[in-house]
Amino acid sequence: MAIQFNHTILSAHDSQASATFLAEMLGLPAPIRWGPFLVVTTENGTNLDYMDVDGEITRQHYAFLISESDFDDIFNRICRRKLSYWADPGQTQPGQINHHDSGRGLYFEDPNGHLLEIITRTYGSGGWNP
Ligand SMILES: [Fe+2]
Repeated sequence: MAIQFNHTILSAHDSQASATFLAEMLGLPAPIRWGPFLVVTTENGTNLDYMDVDGEITRQHYAFLISESDFDDIFNRICRRKLSYWADPGQTQPGQINHHDSGRGLYFEDPNGHLLEIITRTYGSGGWNP
């Protein structure tokens, strides 16, 4: 039996704005409405489903494995929008990227405070290189 991770749900105060932010930042197709969700689909067929909620949002963390050229593109978008980014999930290293696993990685926030991460190598594939 092949088990594949299929989707997760992200709480948002403005799911349209949030889903569009993610799609634009990652260079993915525009979100699609499905019931109460705005669905962003990654290139391995996994969905991130944004749903509007009232009140406080519990922060979640989502990481995306990308190519080196995609890293350049996304990093340029982060810089053009003057978004904050960090080398670490604790957000103690602002304006820096990391080189774990001999790749590149960074963290940035979506409009609801969810912590997004982009990495060019999977965790554990090459070693911890702060
Ligand atoms: Fe992570």
